[in-house]
Amino acid sequence: MKVLVIGSGGREHALVLKLLESPLVDEIWCAPGNGGISAVAHPVPIKVMDKENMVKFAVENGIEFVVVAPDDPLAAGMVDAFEEVHIPTFGPRANAAVIEASKVFSKNLMKKYGIPTAQYETFEDEAAAIAYVKAQNSYPAVIKADGLALGKGVIIAQSEAEAVEAIHEMMSEGKFGDSGRRVVIEEFLTGPEVSVLSFTDGHTIVPMISSKDHKRANDNDEGLNTGGMGTIAPNPYYTPEIAAECMETIFLPTMKAMNAEGRPFKGCLYFGLMLTPKGPKVIEYNCRFGDPETQVVLPLLKTDLMEIMLAIYEERLSEVDVQFSDEAASCVVLASGGYPVSYKSGYEIHGLDEKGQAEGVIVYHAGTKLENGKFYTAGGRVLGVTALGKDREESLRKAYAAAEKITFTDVHYRRDIGKIK
Ligand code: AMP
Ligand code: GLY
Repeated sequence: MKVLVIGSGGREHALVLKLLESPLVDEIWCAPGNGGISAVAHPVPIKVMDKENMVKFAVENGIEFVVVAPDDPLAAGMVDAFEEVHIPTFGPRANAAVIEASKVFSKNLMKKYGIPTAQYETFEDEAAAIAYVKAQNSYPAVIKADGLALGKGVIIAQSEAEAVEAIHEMMSEGKFGDSGRRVVIEEFLTGPEVSVLSFTDGHTIVPMISSKDHKRANDNDEGLNTGGMGTIAPNPYYTPEIAAECMETIFLPTMKAMNAEGRPFKGCLYFGLMLTPKGPKVIEYNCRFGDPETQVVLPLLKTDLMEIMLAIYEERLSEVDVQFSDEAASCVVLASGGYPVSYKSGYEIHGLDEKGQAEGVIVYHAGTKLENGKFYTAGGRVLGVTALGKDREESLRKAYAAAEKITFTDVHYRRDIGKIK
């Protein structure tokens, strides 16, 4: 098969490398891709939101299957656009991607179907939102922009002043554009966070191996929130008992709720969970593979990913026996110094071979470009160095040993990925 993967990050590199393992896959195109991806797949210079040219490219080049990885094109109906030209696609339609694209939608869905989540109220009026936080008078308060905001639309306000400012910036000053015109204000929850990606075709839901993200920029969970500085799989807090409870109270009810709403979800449904003292609760849904969760989950997948994606498209996921390795995986993200605020790009990356790889690990490229056989930094998150091991400690040791040998100017990475307190 000729496959087109849409997106350009470490997650997309992981998808491309996994799909290339499949005997069903002949060739992969990636739009727009990055330096590491272009070492193994054909780059296509089309922007992820350009539906018209994306579809045109696929039709003209005989693409037989499309994987849409990022949230924005999913929410904008990229899958629907391919459906019109009858090219099989992996990912939810826009009417199901709304589970991530609108927090007001997802919170109301959970309330309606009794799926455990933080208590909340939604607001379209700034004065009413401010009156509500003042009346609650409980901090930290959690303020969320309704729409997509590059993972930055959640403010944990430590005081009334911070809460009022966050609401004002979102609702009146357009900090997140249209995404912040409506806000959700919710109860602050505590407990370990777990990411569970799942495969679903709307009839069957198959959770993948659990993982743990590290969202803050610096060690000890200090510094700003980022897209993710590293991940481990499996998540040590996610016991088989908790997994069984989540299946019963969260995963199946969510799949059924989307069906009941006339929005069947097909693709990868991501559950961001918090294991609170009162049981597991949903912090957020994503309508796609997580980044950098995918960089530890997919290397542990033993079953042919293309076969799974085809089965989901054809709504016969129940026929596939999805298996994961019992090893552990760790991913350390090498970022540009200054990320997530401001950073420079264009530095040469040393320590990679001609395919952009390094010994004993898988190097997933996020923000890189390939020029004249050399790799250069081209983004905030540059590389994700993933290692497998018999347990977490071994995989972390291998990932860090390899990470130390890959260098570029101002490289920054956390030294405490996978450290469990
Ligand atoms: P989200 O974009 O919804 O995943 O939120 C980003 C991060 O904010 C989460 O990973 C949590 O660490 C934190 N967060 C979100 N909602 C809550 C909540 N209700 N209580 C505590 N922390 C939260
Ligand atoms: N790593 C979190 C996300 O993909 O949203």
